[in-house]
Amino acid sequence: MTTFLSAHDVCRIVREIGFERFWRRLVDCLEQDFARWDSFDLTPRMASHSPKGVIELMPIADAETFGFKYVNGHPANPALGLQTVVAFGALADVATGYPLLLADLTLATAFRTAATSVLAARLLARPESRTMAVIGAGAQSEFQASAFKTVLGVDRLRIFDPDPEAVRKFVRNLARHGLEIERCANAPEAVIGADIVTTITADKRKATILSGNMVGAGVHVNAVGGDCPGKTELSRELLLRSKVFVEFAPQTRIEGEIQQLAADHPVTELWEVVAGRKPGRRRATETTVFDSVGFALEDFSVMRLLRELAEEMGAGQEIALVAAPSDPKDLFGLIHARQRDAELA
Ligand SMILES: NC(=O)c1ccc[n+]([C@@H]2O[C@H](COP(=O)([O-])OP(=O)(O)OC[C@H]3O[C@@H](n4cnc5c(N)ncnc54)[C@H](O)[C@@H]3O)[C@@H](O)[C@H]2O)c1
Repeated sequence: MTTFLSAHDVCRIVREIGFERFWRRLVDCLEQDFARWDSFDLTPRMASHSPKGVIELMPIADAETFGFKYVNGHPANPALGLQTVVAFGALADVATGYPLLLADLTLATAFRTAATSVLAARLLARPESRTMAVIGAGAQSEFQASAFKTVLGVDRLRIFDPDPEAVRKFVRNLARHGLEIERCANAPEAVIGADIVTTITADKRKATILSGNMVGAGVHVNAVGGDCPGKTELSRELLLRSKVFVEFAPQTRIEGEIQQLAADHPVTELWEVVAGRKPGRRRATETTVFDSVGFALEDFSVMRLLRELAEEMGAGQEIALVAAPSDPKDLFGLIHARQRDAELA
């Protein structure tokens, strides 16, 4: 049998364990998995591009477990009443190939993206960081705010989105999260005095949400929204004067902000910092950029955590996802089994 987790089950798991413990366990899982980078079979994701968006498959495996996620990115979807990003995915047993987990990953994508941002910021932002600018108040944005508050104590936010309704929703959803939130008229205003700047906009073009002169020395930029060829948020000058950190360079060079730079521009992979092989931030005045595009390892981490928590809480449903003939060589016989059962009854 396979454990099935709907979006409803994922909400129940998070509500029962509470945001605080969920964020901490997720960041721990990510840290453990990034630290054992060499134990994974790694590959850039497969992306199918169309004029309106992208559909991607993101596989990964260690010696015991295989995982994959299906995810899209369609920035014009909200105008149709649909989400920009939806996702589902699975874990399977490497020894037998049988599926272990099938889950909605729409919420999990938002959770793991924010938790990865926090893991990176813990290593790259100045430790005393308290104020974060958030540019973009869409579906992912509150997850970032909640994770940064819970794990890093970032409790002052400066929010900008051209859609006032999205900003109202952002403020409403975070009302009981102990945050001081200032609404800003534009992105340049939002970044004033921020220790960390999170860009999390959706637009299928090379946008310049942050230009070189908008970001001061010592700021950490958490660039999340630019994650496809031709879809970026930072100016080239800003990247050139920053130290850039990525998840998996072969994928990020195609999809991330660094698609604007030379193919051999030096970058550091996050796992190298997590594993202590390379330094993170070296000086208080350094400008750091986490060029996040989302990597399969993060989906693996969140799926293994959800599976663990579902087991602990008895959440989800056991489903017969794949055919299971009693004689493994008699698959054909299953087709007649129902008729045979009826005849015997
Ligand atoms: N790096 C990752 O791992 C990862 C994971 C999930 C989503 N994403 C990306 O994050 C982005 C946000 O996703 P979402 O689900 O929140 O999308 P969304 O469509 O729900 O929200 C995007 C928001 O950005 C705002 N926006 C657009 N242009 C802007 C601008 N110039 N300045 C300020 N705000 C602007 C829109 O008004 C909207 O409210 C998408 O581009 C998505 O592809 C990245």
